[in-house]
Order: sequence, then structure tokens, then C-alpha cells
Amino acid sequence: MSVAPNPGNGKVNGPELLQRKAQAAGSPSNSTKIVCLTAYDYPTARLLDEAGVDVILVGDSLAMVVLGYDSTLPVTLEEMLHHARAVRRGTKHALVVADMPFGSYHADTAESLRNAVRFVKEAGVEAVKVEGGERRLELIARLTEAEIPVMGHIGLTPQSVNALGGYRVQGKTTDSAEQLLRDARAVEAAGAFSVVLEAVPRELAAQITRELRIPTIGIGAGPDCDGQILVVHDMLGLIFDQTPKFARKYANVGEVIASAVRGYCEDVRSGSFPSDSESYHSGSSAKTDNPVRISIC
Ligand code: KIV
Repeated sequence: MSVAPNPGNGKVNGPELLQRKAQAAGSPSNSTKIVCLTAYDYPTARLLDEAGVDVILVGDSLAMVVLGYDSTLPVTLEEMLHHARAVRRGTKHALVVADMPFGSYHADTAESLRNAVRFVKEAGVEAVKVEGGERRLELIARLTEAEIPVMGHIGLTPQSVNALGGYRVQGKTTDSAEQLLRDARAVEAAGAFSVVLEAVPRELAAQITRELRIPTIGIGAGPDCDGQILVVHDMLGLIFDQTPKFARKYANVGEVIASAVRGYCEDVRSGSFPSDSESYHSGSSAKTDNPVRISIC
């Protein structure tokens, strides 16, 4: 066996993120936050990757922001795999993590492992994410033992919306803060390489971040986490519902699309699109026409 000159093909990986946190602990002024965003398709993944995002999550938020469901619960394993494949094709540098959807890791461990393996084998992702803390200890340990890196997810876990009775900030009482600490420790002890903290008080997220060796990735968990993640549709303004207060909007892509489409409607109806120069002409040499489609690669 030869030694790979460029292990992992230069992609961001779990051990590198752990190392970044360890280095930051030794020299806090050198800390580099981990930048994560969700993506669900090839062009978005490519744009995020080329812009320098560290981790791309094929989140099960797909169910809500792309498929139009009112929770993450209905999205299926096949749908997640389909989108994960597209994201992976668009990503050269970032670590690609896929969310295991509701129901795909809630029966027995063997079936959960088979489902996680599908993400790695069929979609080519490098890690999976599962929601839940202490109660996922055995599962996370089994997946990591099978060489599948796992990102944990605790705090507000959207797949538990029915059990939680809604989307609420978690860890606000002493009891629930203690439970969250136990969850965070369990996820780390089970072998996860990072953990998402969703909708937890800033102070608690900071405490968990200090205590854990693995990086914490915050969403609605304040600025002291080791990294941040947002749902890309929220930060781009490509959403129809009200967004949570932590979802800073960096663009209004919804308005850009609406305005472009209004312009197209006008041009088609007025006959100004297509113009003569946007038309092919009979008898003209094939050489003078650009190719009908150019390759995207
Ligand atoms: O599904 C998702 O997009 C997520 C992030 C919000 C962390 O789990």
C-alpha cells in the first residue's frame, strides 16, 4: 500500500476540525471559526464551496425550504440521498455532511447503520448528522465504529417537534440545561466529531463549548460556539415565512428572482424576447453559432 500524497483529496475533514479547536485552545487569538451552511443542490453547493465554506450540510430542512412541507418529518431517505448526491457533485473542498431523516435511525441499530452506509456509498458524503443526545449514544458509537463520522445535534431538534410541543428555545431551566450538558457529553463520548447546538441560551452554549473537546456549531446559540451554521434559504432571503431572530439575512434573492421573472413575463408578452440575435437562422454556418449548451464542468 502506498501513502496517499494528499489524504482526503484536500477536503476539509473531521480530524482537521478537531485539530483546529485544539489549536485554538492553545492560542485563542488564532481561533478560526468553522463556517457551515446548508445546501440541497449542485449550483448552491458549488457556490458555497467556491466561496470558502468549511462544511456543507444537506439538512433535512430540505423538507421545509425546498419541498414545502411544514416540518422536517416527511422527507424520505431516498429524497435525502437524491439531494446529497447533487451537493456532493458540486463540492470539491468543503466537508459534506448529510442529515439522516426522521425514521431512518429510529428503529434498530443495524438498520440505522445500513441507512448511514447508503449516504457514504451512494451519495459520497463524508459524514452524517443525527439528532439527539444521550439517547443516541449507542447509535453514534456504532456508526463511528463503522468508520462513518457523525455530527451530533442537540438543543432544539426539529425532528422532535411533536415530542417537544413546538419549536422552542431549549435549556432555559436548570433541569433542561443540565440535560443538555449531559447530551453534549454523551455525543462527544460516543465519538462524534462535532455537535450542532440549536436554539440554546448563549451562556449555556459557551459553557458546552468550553467543556467539549469536539467543536460546537451554533444555530441560534450565540457567538461563542466554535462555528456557525445557517439554513442557506434563510440567509439568502429565499423563504416565504418569518425567519427566527438568529437568521441574519445577507441578501434578498427571492426579490431578485421575482424581479427577473417579472421582466421575462413582460418581454415575452411584448414580443421583445427573443430578439433576432437570440435566434438561429436557416442557412447560416453551424460554425458561426455558439454551441447550443456548453458543458458545466
Ligand atoms: O436541517 C438543517 O438544516 C439543520 C441545521 C439547521 C442545523 O439541521
